[in-house]
Amino acid sequence: MDRIHIRGGTPLRGTIHIGGAKNAALPLMAASLLTGGTLALSNLPHLADISTMAKLLSELGVDISMDGYASGGGHVGRVFRLTAGNLTQTTAPYDLVRKMRASVLVLGPLLARAGHARVSLPGGCAIGTRPVDLHLKALEQLGAEIELTEGYIEARAEKGLVGARIVFPMVTVGGTENLLMAACLAKGETVLSNAAREPEVADLAHCLVAMGAKIDGIGTDTLTIQGVDTLHGADYSVVPDRIETGTYAIAAAITGGELTLKGARADLSEAVFKVLTSAGVEITDTDQGLRIARTNGPLRGADMMTEPYPGFPTDMQAQVMTLMAVADGASMITETIFENRFMHVPELCRMGADINVHGSSAIVRGVDGLSGAQVMATDLRASVSLVLAGLAARGETVVNRVYHLDRGYERLEDKLSACGADIRRMAE
Ligand code: EPZ
Repeated sequence: MDRIHIRGGTPLRGTIHIGGAKNAALPLMAASLLTGGTLALSNLPHLADISTMAKLLSELGVDISMDGYASGGGHVGRVFRLTAGNLTQTTAPYDLVRKMRASVLVLGPLLARAGHARVSLPGGCAIGTRPVDLHLKALEQLGAEIELTEGYIEARAEKGLVGARIVFPMVTVGGTENLLMAACLAKGETVLSNAAREPEVADLAHCLVAMGAKIDGIGTDTLTIQGVDTLHGADYSVVPDRIETGTYAIAAAITGGELTLKGARADLSEAVFKVLTSAGVEITDTDQGLRIARTNGPLRGADMMTEPYPGFPTDMQAQVMTLMAVADGASMITETIFENRFMHVPELCRMGADINVHGSSAIVRGVDGLSGAQVMATDLRASVSLVLAGLAARGETVVNRVYHLDRGYERLEDKLSACGADIRRMAE
């Protein structure tokens, strides 16, 4: 298993290209199941999770070809052409769902298009129990018959799905996406209330509209979908990754450097940028991209609480905690989305951070500096928070279990080393 070795202390300077968002790309790929036409997706990131989704879709009968690269100035966004002419099967097997929970996003489209889906139940995961009960209850409201047997979700709607009014009892990103896709081919009108407003959900909705769907309220918490008989192919470019953007913004801030994030969109990261600005980070939207710098003295502690969009994203909590670990003063960080998303805390403490967890909140008391150590984490964002800590720490940090990083950060070590970081990947 590969490890990443980092010698910290170098202020990062240069330009980093922000790729397409993983969490937008995965549902967009699943949306290809809804049509026999070709969905051409560009600006796809080159990540392990994208390959897992491609493998799952191929097993279901989707023909996928890579249509060259859209590239420029070092940025390589992939273009996939996905054609689900004939679905050859409707089962998402345990082996793939176990690797990537987002595989459950094929449930809604398979059911809507084929009238049947058999999807392995995703188990718990490192950050929480993460049930899919809300996806299933909402699909039942569209008329699906659902049984749980032998570890699988067995869903049927042989006469087709029928529109309904669905009120999600809590905000669920994946649940909203599954229902949005299913409702596009349901008979009549579906209203999704308390829907997730994440930019990745809006990206999916815009793509579905380009495929012929009728959706109102995109970007709000009420989505109204008029079902259509069929959807067609479309060309669509994936929205830039706001979590990759925030992560590299913190890399600039924590090393006292200056980075330009090309292709990043400030409007997608307002909650994160508000916290960074109050901590003393300068963020300027320029023609070249977003310029992130920390040139005006020390960082200051800031409080934050994770919430559904447009609130502070849970996927940035670990990275911001690392920044607060070396800021002046104390910060209180509260996690409200997942019940077990503080796994980076003990590892950061091994690097010299002063962090105490009380239930769903962590009190972070800033220290003068971190020191390098051997660390590992059990999820993607926790792992990258340790890379950020390593970039700022004295001495050498070795981040183990690099495969987590490969699920969500494209060419992480190349992007950072091009800006001066002393970082390299070593095969075991
Ligand atoms: C998406 O997960 C993202 N994944 C996650 O990103 C992200 O952390 C999360 O949304 C929240 O923003 C993808 O987009 C592929 P949810 P998802 O359904 O859809 C509970 C990363 O690092 N819940 O909004 O699975 C659930 O347990 C990943 O890139 C139910 O109880 O998240 C959680 O506490 C990690 N029942 C909360 O809702 C359900 O049926 C929010 O989950 C569904 C969810």
